[in-house]
Amino acid sequence: MLLIIGCRIYFQPIKEVCNCETKLHGKVALVTGGNSGIGKETARDLARRGARVIIASRDNKKSEAAVNDIIYTTGNANVLYRHLDLAKVESIRQFAEDFKDEDRLDILVNNSGVGGLKNKCNERNIDVIMQINYFGPVLLTNLLLDKLKKSAPS
Ligand SMILES: *[C@@H]1O[C@H](CO)[C@@H](O)[C@H](O)[C@H]1NC(C)=O
Repeated sequence: MLLIIGCRIYFQPIKEVCNCETKLHGKVALVTGGNSGIGKETARDLARRGARVIIASRDNKKSEAAVNDIIYTTGNANVLYRHLDLAKVESIRQFAEDFKDEDRLDILVNNSGVGGLKNKCNERNIDVIMQINYFGPVLLTNLLLDKLKKSAPS
């Protein structure tokens, strides 16, 4: 009996939850890959605390569903998505260009990431895993740096 209970406790999924209640009204948050998994829950928590939340993702349909779900569960209607494909340099540049119509950027969460892709290169002959997990986020951060600095303390 004790062994069974012990096993149950040991194999319980760990449910660590952010309990921060700091309000984020007036703040703008961007979460890459915010349409599923940890990114989506991060976006949900930021929305719950009042931020304007922008999900940046490749899959428009999945992102739309995530936006609707987050709006429904948080009551914060200030949640949207913008298309971003971190594998493509032009997509990142276009995203940053379009992002100019946002007044500010307080929080940037580099959440996107991939694994398990076979050796594949993008249109610039850059390894796609390195592009999505590292070069893409570096470029994105750099292109949004002015906005982040202007929104200090971002
Ligand atoms: C995003 O990730 C890149 C690559 O690791 C890093 O250079 C950049 O500083 C990160 N940006 C933020 C806001 O953490």
